[in-house]
Amino acid sequence: MEGNAKTITVGLFGLGTVGTGVVKVLEKRSGLIRNRLGYDVRLKTICVRNLDRAREVNTAKYKVTTNSEHILNDPEINVVVEAMGGIEPARSYIKEALEKGKHVVTANKALISKHGQELFELAAKNGVNLAFEASVCSSIPIIKGIRESFVANSISSISGIVNGTTNFILTKMTSEGRSYESALEEAQQKGFAEADPSFDVGGKDAAQKIAILAMLAFNTAVDPDTVYTEGIQDVTAEDIRFAGNWGYVIKLIALAKKADGNGEGIDMRVHPMLIAKKHPLASVEGELNAVYLNGDLVDGQMFYGKGAGQLPTASAVISDVIDVMKSVAVVRNFNSLPLIDINDLEFSYYLKIPVIDRPGVLYRIAKILATNGISVAELLQPGGKESVPLIIKTHRAKERMMRHAFNELNKLAVVKKGAVMIRIQD
Ligand code: HSE
Repeated sequence: MEGNAKTITVGLFGLGTVGTGVVKVLEKRSGLIRNRLGYDVRLKTICVRNLDRAREVNTAKYKVTTNSEHILNDPEINVVVEAMGGIEPARSYIKEALEKGKHVVTANKALISKHGQELFELAAKNGVNLAFEASVCSSIPIIKGIRESFVANSISSISGIVNGTTNFILTKMTSEGRSYESALEEAQQKGFAEADPSFDVGGKDAAQKIAILAMLAFNTAVDPDTVYTEGIQDVTAEDIRFAGNWGYVIKLIALAKKADGNGEGIDMRVHPMLIAKKHPLASVEGELNAVYLNGDLVDGQMFYGKGAGQLPTASAVISDVIDVMKSVAVVRNFNSLPLIDINDLEFSYYLKIPVIDRPGVLYRIAKILATNGISVAELLQPGGKESVPLIIKTHRAKERMMRHAFNELNKLAVVKKGAVMIRIQD
């Protein structure tokens, strides 16, 4: 193989966590890749913001520069890896690289979820490839799965645990009964959560990822900022315990689903959900990620593994570096399917309503539920003193009606602060 190896000359933008991982993996695994695939992957140039910063890897054998043109104008570089993150200047560099006939690999979920359509169209126009496996759940080959392995399928739904930070926190709260705050603190100490965790715990990271998966599966561009998103900040260990008694775990689920029947839209959302313990996603613990999808030929399939971290992300990037040299499918013929309003969907619900324990309270709550057409499936009133939570599981009801009822309940003088409403995955 050695003599016939085809050379891939790489220019890398960014030498943070991901870029450094790419350098490390290429140093260690170039020989393996050459033997397995016949490609000689050679990193030539690295473009950084600051030449003086101390680096984890020895960069002496590469050209390290702050000038993007040293990559973009080098005719020898045929693959550009973008590992800078953020929208600009990453977007401009990628566009210029594609226009100059270079293949591009990126790990940038913010960029692909927001500007994927523009970049795919530019790649197609210039006859080059744009790959982004690392942008969703890093090492898990979910992009490859959807666009290659399941290319002959009509995909009806994708649901996943695509954020490791929140899954780590919820797992700790479940297995150790810890509070949200204490589990978050441990996630930060272990390096899973950022110093400002709001992007992860608020569900925005998951919304970007599900927007990318939906784009691939349904050929549609969805602005992640328009996806209905709730985070895990209000989930308590008590809710997790009650859900557990009824056979559920609570997970932050990102979901994209084609409209049932003849409708045209997509149901797309990110929020905490009660998942039956026997569902494959229920057993995904700690910082791990998983994506469960349904294709008409393959039925339900789950992809599972590490969704973040330097080496798992670099693993996906390097795989893409080889892939772009072959032909990878770019997303073509974009639709713009409307998002279905969550108010028009139906769920069963877990409700926790902290109330004063007095005669007639249950009657008033049941009346509000009944007036809104909501039927109670199970009811629990764990013993307490003056104030007790009423734990209710409802039958399926329209979100619009449930929200209306929930607002009404919260107005009752006997209902205290902290009522909770979490949807149940049937
Ligand atoms: N912060 C993400 C997570 C990983 O917690 O899963 C990068 O998308």
